[in-house]
Amino acid sequence: MSSVVVVGAQWGDEAKAKVVDLLSAEADVVVRSQGGNNAGHTVVVGNDKFILHLIPCGVLRPHVVSVIASGVVVDPKYFLEELGTLRSRGLAITPETLLLSERAHLIMPYHRLLDTLSEGKKTGVKLGTTGRGIGPCYADKAARSGIRVVDLLDEETLRSRLEAALPEKNILLEKLYGHRALSADEIAAEYLGYASELRPFVRDTQKFLSRAFDEKKRVLFESAQGTLLDIDHGTYPFVTSSNAAVYGACAGSGTSPRRIDKVVGVLKAYTTRVGAGPFPTELSDSLGERLRENGQEFGATTGRPRRCGWLDAVACRYVARLNGFTSLAITKIDVLTGLEKVRVCTAYRAGARTLDEFPSDLRTLESAEPVYEELDGWRESLGGIRSFAKLPAAARKYVRRIEEIMSAPVEILSVGPGRDETLWIGRGKR
Ligand code: IMP
Repeated sequence: MSSVVVVGAQWGDEAKAKVVDLLSAEADVVVRSQGGNNAGHTVVVGNDKFILHLIPCGVLRPHVVSVIASGVVVDPKYFLEELGTLRSRGLAITPETLLLSERAHLIMPYHRLLDTLSEGKKTGVKLGTTGRGIGPCYADKAARSGIRVVDLLDEETLRSRLEAALPEKNILLEKLYGHRALSADEIAAEYLGYASELRPFVRDTQKFLSRAFDEKKRVLFESAQGTLLDIDHGTYPFVTSSNAAVYGACAGSGTSPRRIDKVVGVLKAYTTRVGAGPFPTELSDSLGERLRENGQEFGATTGRPRRCGWLDAVACRYVARLNGFTSLAITKIDVLTGLEKVRVCTAYRAGARTLDEFPSDLRTLESAEPVYEELDGWRESLGGIRSFAKLPAAARKYVRRIEEIMSAPVEILSVGPGRDETLWIGRGKR
């Protein structure tokens, strides 16, 4: 393995964390480049289940250095809580094995408040955010009024950045949302408390990564969310506030695209979405319910039930074109076991038109009727299967159809949550 970016090919929750965890066995460095503690990355190791929200999955491998790069938005209180939880479960995480970028932006108390208070009020659209302050923090970063980790380490800078930012936030909180105003002194006191605990982890992560590449270290990028939630190319405004597609790894970590060797797209064998927004293949019937139950489709961050539906080849082709996947990991194919037929949406019907391109306008997408092709299902349980040849013929056919849609070969097929419940395809085992 050289340098690999793992990207979600749908609306997040593709079980990327399992894939990152598998690939991290052969990595020296694992990097988070975007998003924040809105992510929910579940990894099952033997009988233990870890759900990571902010800290990279690399911490589960003692030989790996994990990096939270500058494109991530960091809630310092949350960072310390997650660190404490992971340590209490026996993980020896130190400032040598976990690095935090000095350029990363901080999620402040007013970001969390504004995220929840503004839902549905600002644009009249309820996005169903995770309420972690992600959008307001990225908004301040773009408006150049954000506060970075490096600012936190210098009391004078922290106070002056806070005093510059707070008056506007307080007008919004008080006048628009009827919330009490926040005090700069109180926030400074709280955040300076975090500063001393964070300081040992803070590094120039861009420089660290650049050196790692020069030394031919194997670097794995763990994207958060999924391409269809990408701020530039997702189903705007029903998106997150960062670049969840492949280029987010480069921008957020300060890495040249020339350093990237492989882009692995992670795709669930069906589609899910949590939060609001268009979802043409959504199943609002008992079949959707069955997928949710069998796949345990409940948000790892908020516990919300995920909306479930068939695989959408129109969206998948668009996502594949954006990311240029070199290979794929298909997850949760075992969840489809027992269905007589499996459907794949190959086009949308929009009024009199048939579309095979993913539309950018929300109204078309919201009214799009899926056109389905039907494939045979299979009855056999897949959990114990470890080679592609042993899969039921119908499951093999489904995998090949996905390769065709995505124009990329499947490298990993996941048939259960555990590390061993995995088929490595194309590594001499197919
Ligand atoms: P935000 O990222 O909290 O601003 O939420 C924006 C949208 O992205 C909402 O629909 C969330 O449910 C969704 N979202 C954010 N993070 C994730 C994730 O890790 N998986 C799936 N959906 C996510």
